[in-house]
Amino acid sequence: MRSDSIESVAVIGGGPSGLAALHALKSELLFKKIRLFERKSEPGGLWVYDDVPEELPLLTSDKISKPLDAPEHLPGKYPTKGYPVGFKSPAYKYMESNVPEPLMSFSYAHIKEVCSPKSVELLGPNHPFRHIDVVRQFIQDEFKKYSDMVQYSTSVERVYKRGDKWILVLREINKYNDGQDYWYEESFDAVLVANGHYSVPNLPNIPGTLDLQKANKNMIQHISSFRKVEDYEDMKILIVGTGISSTDFVSDILPVVQKPLYVSVRGEAPRNDFLDSFDGNSSLSLKPGVKSVHLSDDGKHFNATFTDNSTLEGLDKLVFATGYIFDFPFLTDEEIVINENNRIENLYQHIFKIGDPTLSFIGAVIAGISFRVFEYQATLVARVLSKRASLPSVEEQIKWEKDLLEKRGDVHTFHVIPPDFKVYYDDIVRLAGPANGKGHDLEPFGDDWITILNNGRNLKLKYWRRN
Ligand SMILES: Cc1cc2nc3c(=O)[nH]c(=O)nc-3n(C[C@H](O)[C@H](O)[C@H](O)COP(=O)(O)OP(=O)(O)OC[C@H]3O[C@@H](n4cnc5c(N)ncnc54)[C@H](O)[C@@H]3O)c2cc1C
Ligand SMILES: NC(=O)c1ccc[n+]([C@@H]2O[C@H](COP(=O)([O-])OP(=O)(O)OC[C@H]3O[C@@H](n4cnc5c(N)ncnc54)[C@H](OP(=O)(O)O)[C@@H]3O)[C@@H](O)[C@H]2O)c1
Repeated sequence: MRSDSIESVAVIGGGPSGLAALHALKSELLFKKIRLFERKSEPGGLWVYDDVPEELPLLTSDKISKPLDAPEHLPGKYPTKGYPVGFKSPAYKYMESNVPEPLMSFSYAHIKEVCSPKSVELLGPNHPFRHIDVVRQFIQDEFKKYSDMVQYSTSVERVYKRGDKWILVLREINKYNDGQDYWYEESFDAVLVANGHYSVPNLPNIPGTLDLQKANKNMIQHISSFRKVEDYEDMKILIVGTGISSTDFVSDILPVVQKPLYVSVRGEAPRNDFLDSFDGNSSLSLKPGVKSVHLSDDGKHFNATFTDNSTLEGLDKLVFATGYIFDFPFLTDEEIVINENNRIENLYQHIFKIGDPTLSFIGAVIAGISFRVFEYQATLVARVLSKRASLPSVEEQIKWEKDLLEKRGDVHTFHVIPPDFKVYYDDIVRLAGPANGKGHDLEPFGDDWITILNNGRNLKLKYWRRN
């Protein structure tokens, strides 16, 4: 055995990224120990629906997600610390996928061709989108293949390096149902972080929001707690943001809310999907960025002032559709830095910690074609860890990040894959090399993939424009 060989690997997170990681690691037929830790009691990640949404934390200047202090003496049982921010899924009960099959899948396993009756009514038969329950069932069926490797209700609280080993500080949440958590450590040669990045809300700092929250906690929400259209009936609403969450939400609540529905856009114009869905729709009114909000005299409503000094009065609800942040509370700044622009620094191909590929990330990309990109990233990581594939020199990895920074800037959207899909996928395929009997060959990015994505978008436009 080579002294630097990897025998044990930990995976953090039991969503689609973690699933792709298990498949790829197992395919290597090499690692003696593969362990996946998931803090929920079942697999599926975002595709496991939570009936009761998460409450928005108080909008103070504190970070909303903080690492827990581990007890001094491990292992041991300690009073439970409960569940962290982002524990609950932002999905809602009638959610449908928005990335078309056959791409929103692994090349080796596809989601069932089942369309929900409501979606067939709106989009016609045999469309490529799937109801949340169908996606969750697919993930959970796939997870059954790896049940001996997975531990549920276990939150990874700290990951740090001691010598050549990665130490994971683990917390089995309320293990014996007695209000106590069981804390302990386990060590590994490598760690794959697959904890998702659509769970901890990105919350703009707007003066007045804390006062509103204190007066009535229901006056402000993040879109992650949206559950049903009826909750917005006859309300005068201000939404911040024009991403897909906002676009979906607007198209759904438009028939029931007070008109116009106000949407604040911080930049020059709304995002393309939003614009193409609602341009010219007189039920909507676009506003610039929100400068401040104030409780109205009756204490039941609020007023908003915008960056052009225009104002709105008598609003019922402020909805932040402002996206999410990357969050690795279990990693210290020594291991990885998420900078103030919500960009993860020092990663090669958005995957490997530059200088130490024993720490890697699956799914830390935006719009990369979920599931498929996780498969490609996980395959590359597994082959690098098993020494069947190698990475370029550290200097070349640094240059990769520097070149992309020059092109994209030091911004959150640094991690967006389009329009460079082909470059990204081809890089991974080249680095991963052939399967040689272990796992499968990664197909090059197909020219038809863009057509599939565009056809999917056109179908979604039909849905968004329906009112
Ligand atoms: C509203 C919404 C709709 C979306 N719709 C689509 C869509 O239609 N199609 C699509 O392809 N993508 C969609 N996405 C993107 C979605 O994030 C991906 O589909 C996919 O779920 C990402 O998989 P993941 O495994 O990386 O993350 P997740 O699905 O978020 O899974 C991460 C898992 O890690 C666990 N975890 C986190 N931290 C810890 C810890 N410290 N210890 C232990 N476990 C931990 C979590 O509990 C979770 O189970 C959507 C996102 C949002 C917000
Ligand atoms: N399956 C489905 O049906 C479904 C439904 C909802 C969401 N999703 C997925 O969920 C993911 C997240 O989408 P998202 O729309 O929640 O997030 P997002 O894509 O990050 O969009 C966030 C929006 O908020 C704005 N914003 C961010 N910070 C702001 C600030 N400080 N002040 C004002 N505005 C701010 C952004 O402005 P800019 O435009 O200026 O950047 C953008 O318009 C996407 O992958 C999406 O496809 C899928």
